[in-house]
Amino acid sequence: MKGLVLAGGKGSRLRPLTATGAKQLVPVANKPVLFYALEQLVAAGVTEIGIITGDTADQVMSAVGNGEAFGASVTYLQQSAPLGLAHAIITAEPWLGDSPFCMFLGDNFLGGGIVPYADRFRQEHCAAHILLRRVDDASSLGVAVLNGDGRVVKLVEKPREPISDLAVIGVYFFGPEVHEITPTLKPSARGELEITDAIQGLIDAGHAVHAQTIADDWIDTGKKDDMLEANRLVLGGLQRRIDGTVDADSTLVGPVVIEVGASVLGSTVRGPAVIGAGTTVQDAYIGPFTAIGPGCELSGCEIENSILLEGCVVRNVERRIADSLIGREVVVERSPLRPQAIRLMLGDHSRVDVV
Ligand code: TTP
Repeated sequence: MKGLVLAGGKGSRLRPLTATGAKQLVPVANKPVLFYALEQLVAAGVTEIGIITGDTADQVMSAVGNGEAFGASVTYLQQSAPLGLAHAIITAEPWLGDSPFCMFLGDNFLGGGIVPYADRFRQEHCAAHILLRRVDDASSLGVAVLNGDGRVVKLVEKPREPISDLAVIGVYFFGPEVHEITPTLKPSARGELEITDAIQGLIDAGHAVHAQTIADDWIDTGKKDDMLEANRLVLGGLQRRIDGTVDADSTLVGPVVIEVGASVLGSTVRGPAVIGAGTTVQDAYIGPFTAIGPGCELSGCEIENSILLEGCVVRNVERRIADSLIGREVVVERSPLRPQAIRLMLGDHSRVDVV
């Protein structure tokens, strides 16, 4: 079985971070969300992996390389435009050939990995095996309607009426039969070739489509709060590890990781939290569920339940920063300049909540 990981797309819901960077490279517990997908594929014995790329191809390629670091062999497949998940399969078809494959959306985070699902797909012969997860609100997702025997009857993208609470998650297993359907698809109202239409096409053509309802944590990290939730999930399982320096005036509580070259001075870090390599934390409080990237400089501030990417500076900010996702090399500091005011230099689609 081959792996097809989707790392193209527009990423419009995570702007402005995605104006300059790939959303699949936004870190969860200081590791790009995409890396979890690659590791989970390899853990399931899928080592021949194709990665679909878009405008951010260079970044994805330099982060993943040839896949050796993951124990995989990676081939990059450039998609002409983000024309939909089924269009990504069309793009990959020459590379996929007749091989069955696991398609994994590069921004989806799955708590328990895919080993049992991959094994089941290998055992049962079917044209598609999809994973479903019960959700409270399925109105923005693709959902599956099952019959009494648990067979998939129909799939609906973003249902207006609540016809099912079973969301189709971003990990799918396909046999080569899907390539009979993709050329027949027409763009949906949002102009994309939808994966739900491809799976529906398999059902309508009489192919076996199996579904399995899973109970694992699943997060589609399209928006800020989803990233923070994935971060909370991974940090929830953190083991304490101190590879950096912590002075006698500092207190570390609970599961805290201090990476190599990081220093914590006169500060309190209450885990689960990770402080990236080479970061300095001085006279500060870092609260639970916070991941501070490498090369940051934090002093005179309090931060919790947040993700800071590399090279950020936060200095002398009185109010606690919470529930925030802060991009690379952002500076947030108290300014002595008069008039006293909040001075902003923010990218398009940024969001600031002030009190
Ligand atoms: P989505 O999150 O559905 O789409 P998007 O990336 O365009 O994001 P937004 O809705 O915020 O604008 O995509 C799921 C994953 O699939 C994501 O990792 C991007 C990737 N993708 C492709 O590689 N090619 C595509 O044509 C599309 C639509 C998505």
